[in-house]
Amino acid sequence: MPKKPLSLAKVYTLIEPGPVVLLTTAAAGKSNVMPMSWHSMLEFEPPLIGCVISDRNHSYGLLAASKECAINIPTADIADKVVGCGNTTGAKTDKFKRFGLTPGPATAVAAPLIEECFASLECRVVDTSMVKKYSFFVLRVLKAWVETPLKHPRTMHHRGRGRFMLAGETIKLRSRMK
Ligand SMILES: Cc1cc2nc3c(=O)[nH]c(=O)nc-3n(C[C@H](O)[C@H](O)[C@H](O)COP(=O)(O)O)c2cc1C
Repeated sequence: MPKKPLSLAKVYTLIEPGPVVLLTTAAAGKSNVMPMSWHSMLEFEPPLIGCVISDRNHSYGLLAASKECAINIPTADIADKVVGCGNTTGAKTDKFKRFGLTPGPATAVAAPLIEECFASLECRVVDTSMVKKYSFFVLRVLKAWVETPLKHPRTMHHRGRGRFMLAGETIKLRSRMK
C-alpha cells in the first residue's frame, strides 16, 4: 500500500491511545478539572498509570502540591463539557460550575470525582522522577469505580486538531489468543 510521509508533529495523532480522561485535582480547598489524553497503563496490579501534565496547566501545581488526583472517564455525550474544560484554565474559572459538572466525594483522595463520567479512578502520585524532564507523573490507582450497565462506553479518543474517534463495536477474539 503506498504511503506518504507524515509530519513529525502529527505522529501523536496516530498512536495516541486515549480515551480522553478528565483529571481532577484539589489543593488548599480548591478543585479543578482538565482533559488529558497523554497517558498510559504501566502495570496491571497494583494499577500504575503514567501521564504527561504540562507545567503550563493550573492542574500541574495542584497535583504537585497534593500528590493526589482522580482520573474520570467521560463518554461522548458530554463532549462539549470536555472540550470546554480544555479551553479554559482553573486558575481563572471554576470549571465544575461553568460546564455543569457535578463533583462527587472520593474515598481515598481529596480530589472530587465527576458524577457525569462512567468511571473514576482515585490515584496517588508514586513516582516523580521524570517530572522535571518530561512532566511525566506515575500514578497508582487506589480505588476504582465504574457504572456497571455500560458495556460499550462511547469513549473519546483524540486524533488531533479537534477530531475525536469514538469507541464503538467490541469484538471478541479470546479463543484465538494465547
Ligand atoms: C482532548 C484534550 C487532550 C488534552 N491532553 C492533555 C494532556 O495529556 N496533558 C496536558 O498537560 N494537557 C492536555 N490538554 C490540555 C489541557 O486540558 C488544557 O491546557 C487545560 O485548559 C488545562 O486546564 P488547567 O489550566 O485548568 O489545568 C488536553 C486538552 C484536550 C482538549
